[in-house]
Amino acid sequence: MQTYRVAIVGTGGIAAVHASNLARTDNRAELVAACDVAEARLQAFGDEHGIVGRYQSLTELLAEAKPDIVHLCTPPMMHIDQAIECLEAGAHVLSEKPPALSLADFDRLNEAQAKGGAQFSCVFQHRFGDASAAARSLIGGSEFGRPLVARCDTLWYRPDEYFDLPWRGTWKAEGGGPTMGHGIHQFDLLLHLLGPWEEVNAIASRQARATSTEDFSAALVRFENGAAATVINSLLSPRETSDIRVDCEFATIELSHLYGYGTKDWTITAAPGHEDAVSGAWAGQPLERGSGHSAQFLAMYDALDAGRPLPAGADSARQTLEFAAAIYASAFTGQPVRRGQIVPGHAFYEGMDGDGRGTRVLASTARA
Ligand SMILES: NC(=O)c1ccc[n+]([C@@H]2O[C@H](COP(=O)([O-])OP(=O)(O)OC[C@H]3O[C@@H](n4cnc5c(N)ncnc54)[C@H](O)[C@@H]3O)[C@@H](O)[C@H]2O)c1
Repeated sequence: MQTYRVAIVGTGGIAAVHASNLARTDNRAELVAACDVAEARLQAFGDEHGIVGRYQSLTELLAEAKPDIVHLCTPPMMHIDQAIECLEAGAHVLSEKPPALSLADFDRLNEAQAKGGAQFSCVFQHRFGDASAAARSLIGGSEFGRPLVARCDTLWYRPDEYFDLPWRGTWKAEGGGPTMGHGIHQFDLLLHLLGPWEEVNAIASRQARATSTEDFSAALVRFENGAAATVINSLLSPRETSDIRVDCEFATIELSHLYGYGTKDWTITAAPGHEDAVSGAWAGQPLERGSGHSAQFLAMYDALDAGRPLPAGADSARQTLEFAAAIYASAFTGQPVRRGQIVPGHAFYEGMDGDGRGTRVLASTARA
């Protein structure tokens, strides 16, 4: 097993989670460098985590520290350009979500990834708990049966002050509201569990917050395997919860948590007559590790050690981004959107605001 040289770029809120989770990877990673444009924050972060290499420029960090992996913990609008710079310098990228602000931006990665051996991966830490791997392997199998009905709710609460950070709640910096910034984790897990989506019908509105984006969206989704789901993304919900429920022919799978889960947060209910088969199948899975950043880091190192493509790599991150684009496109055109429909030339390929359509629709319906 190799020990990977890791750098963190952007030393704000989520960077602390990355640093503490790196410390839980059994010495498979060494945090060798950090970068932030804010000198005081960089120094405080460097002191706290004992980081030797401290840079205010990503270009200098890449040239001098030569990390194997760069974690991008910067605001959303910076991810894609920084990812391309890292890939071109030969460093693997683990980017915080969202991976890009638009499909057009995301597709700029292709060339950079094709040039060398470096790969892109997006932080979607909920895919990496043991229970989600167990659910994924059992959905559609003989004991649980095929998935029929699902729901996926990200019901979070963000007060007005949350939007004081200048990049929050804007199309330009964040690419959207709770669909792009918050619910994306939960529906990424739904897509991971159910496979390719086929068609989305959605609404989005600004109910209460003084942002320029939506603060609520809801979608009806049809999956390729025939399952139908609802997906709700809200920042207006005082009793916060993140829930997924999948009803298969012979078992209901439920996950209820907030920002991360352990196995105890999952409930399995068998249909009458299927109790033994369902509980036996679930109990037969490895069910120790919960979700979280360190679980994704370890899966990444396993893939690199084995020479495999990175988990949550560019292809699957793009599918999740395309799903977000489809929610916006459907909500702001009033039309259903099919997978593969948002291509160059489509208004929502270049941005989640659909060339100003979102802004106009939200302005005409806003209650905030
Ligand atoms: N995976 C999760 O559960 C999770 C949770 C929270 C936030 N996030 C994501 O993490 C990212 C960062 O969020 P945050 O809350 O930590 O933001 P933050 O504002 O607290 O931190 C961002 C940092 O990036 C620095 N920065 C800005 N421009 C830079 C540049 N050009 N080079 C280097 N550093 C630069 C800022 O000075 C700041 O310190 C966002 O994309 C957010 O959506 C993910």
